[in-house]
Amino acid sequence: MKFFVDTADVKEIRELNDLGLLDGVTTNPSLILKAGRDIKEVTKEICDIVDGPVSAEVTATEYAEIMREAAVLAKIADNICIKLPLTLDGLKACKALTSDGHQTNVTLCFSATQALLAAKAGATFISPFIGRLDDMGFDGMEVIAEIRQVYDNYGFETEILAASIRSVDHVKRAALIGADVATIPPATLKALVKHPLTDKGLEQFLADWAKTGQKIG
Ligand code: E4P
Repeated sequence: MKFFVDTADVKEIRELNDLGLLDGVTTNPSLILKAGRDIKEVTKEICDIVDGPVSAEVTATEYAEIMREAAVLAKIADNICIKLPLTLDGLKACKALTSDGHQTNVTLCFSATQALLAAKAGATFISPFIGRLDDMGFDGMEVIAEIRQVYDNYGFETEILAASIRSVDHVKRAALIGADVATIPPATLKALVKHPLTDKGLEQFLADWAKTGQKIG
């Protein structure tokens, strides 16, 4: 499973990239607002840090304007992945952009049938939003499983990018189902390493080692 970080915070991205944990980054208009930075400037900085795809989202809703914005975003760097809304105009743009050799991420997906449309439009990634479905009383993970089955039934190469992840358990369950990528908020990504028995075991080993009076090397 590939790990993308779901943030536009350059400091967090640099730290996780230095740990060797990052395969890419996803941003959206809300994350750009949170970062308080100019979209082109911050996206360029992120693209310079991370080798993998960096999703930058268009904000237009009509085909011609989506294509105009996509051209601006694509010029930022070679590893830009154009993020498009799951609408008819967004899907039309997805088809045109992928045919033109761009990476695309179709976002705001909440059903397997929407994901089927994105795959038919040639999307590089489909982003089903787990947490937002859970918030509404639905089971977001069930949608991930349905998309996995649909894509496997027909051999679609579109990668399932599990998004709107809120917990370590979301990451585990998405990995068990076989989502290709998880885009994870920085705090949740760091929390994946945590286990109380790891902390307790390390404490014991260090205490016993100190009692030996030895040093390695
Ligand atoms: C990423 O591509 C999505 O925009 C993001 O995961 C949405 O997460 P949220 O539902 O926590 O805003």
